[in-house]
Amino acid sequence: MASDPAEKPDGVPSHPGVTPDPHRQPAPAINNVIPAQAGTQSTPLSCASVVEAQRHATRALSAAGVDNAPGDARRLLAAALVASAADLIRDPGRALTHAETAQFEAFLARRLAREPISRILGAREFYGRPFVVTPAVLDPRPDTETLIEAALAICRTEGWLNRPIQLLDLGTGSGAILLTLLAELPEATGLGIDVSGGALACARLNAGALGLSARCRFGRYDLAAASFSGFDLIVSNPPYIPAADIEALDPEVARFDPRLALDGGRDGLDYYRIILGKLAQHQTVSISPAWLVLELGAGQSAEVIEIAEKLGLIHAGHDVVQTADLNGRIRCIAIKTHPANLQQKNLETP
Ligand SMILES: C[S@@+](CC[C@H](N)C(=O)[O-])C[C@H]1O[C@@H](n2cnc3c(N)ncnc32)[C@H](O)[C@@H]1O
Repeated sequence: MASDPAEKPDGVPSHPGVTPDPHRQPAPAINNVIPAQAGTQSTPLSCASVVEAQRHATRALSAAGVDNAPGDARRLLAAALVASAADLIRDPGRALTHAETAQFEAFLARRLAREPISRILGAREFYGRPFVVTPAVLDPRPDTETLIEAALAICRTEGWLNRPIQLLDLGTGSGAILLTLLAELPEATGLGIDVSGGALACARLNAGALGLSARCRFGRYDLAAASFSGFDLIVSNPPYIPAADIEALDPEVARFDPRLALDGGRDGLDYYRIILGKLAQHQTVSISPAWLVLELGAGQSAEVIEIAEKLGLIHAGHDVVQTADLNGRIRCIAIKTHPANLQQKNLETP
């Protein structure tokens, strides 16, 4: 999965042109969501300056336990004013209009309810590109960039950077992984599958916005029934949170990421068993090798490797690459299949 949702930072760039979700609850009035400081009068925000609005919001967000309250206040204010952070610094005394105040109030109320900024603004930057984020998809995580790096390193080693390879993304969500790889591999084509129709709609939207629709397809399939045949590179960030742990995650994750994108079963490893089981089957019937690259939850690498070992996927002669994140934790495993008939052929060729 896109990393460990429990740990995802919430930084998101503003994305002009993405309309906030109209189905959300109306925001309480600003004076209800922004407490006045003891001994001071609450300033009606319609008369507030940029610096006053930012200060009020920072105070309210801090009181609500939001990490990085000043940064979030700045980003929401900049989005409400359709301005940059630099604009806010340049003109701290500028008064908010009524319309800007209403928009800022609405954004702030949603953040106070612990909705992530990426969802409020409807967009997230992933591997340097903007992705639309809807309620149907996992908010793509910076951790998943580790999987992108691992997949691209394999493509470099295999000489695939400019080859017409075929990609398969299991549980594509917003399409962040598949579309990023297609953008980095100009000759590649790919299929993204998901059981969520809403996620596929989001992925198609992102493919169009990134100009990649001609090189990808999306389909509503259960990954347990997917065929790996004909693909050179199979990637997946599957749901991997143990079911009982989901409620205790940060509210930004537990309340706003779709459960379908988080729930990895009792021990969080259900999808690894399914995907690795399919890979083991695949190598007995396929005629060409393929790479599988999987994102792992923090602390899951030993258990996932044990599953792969039991399935005979990791033993002498197999290529296995483990990639750590910046904190040194293994967050990605890549396994190259050695199809049975190819192994047989190698045995016969001294
Ligand atoms: C952790 S999210 C990953 C989304 C995206 N690939 C990313 O990295 O941001 C897992 C995705 O798997 C999908 N999913 C869950 N069960 C599935 C299944 N049985 N078959 C296919 N997709 C499934 C979810 O809908 C969700 O979009």
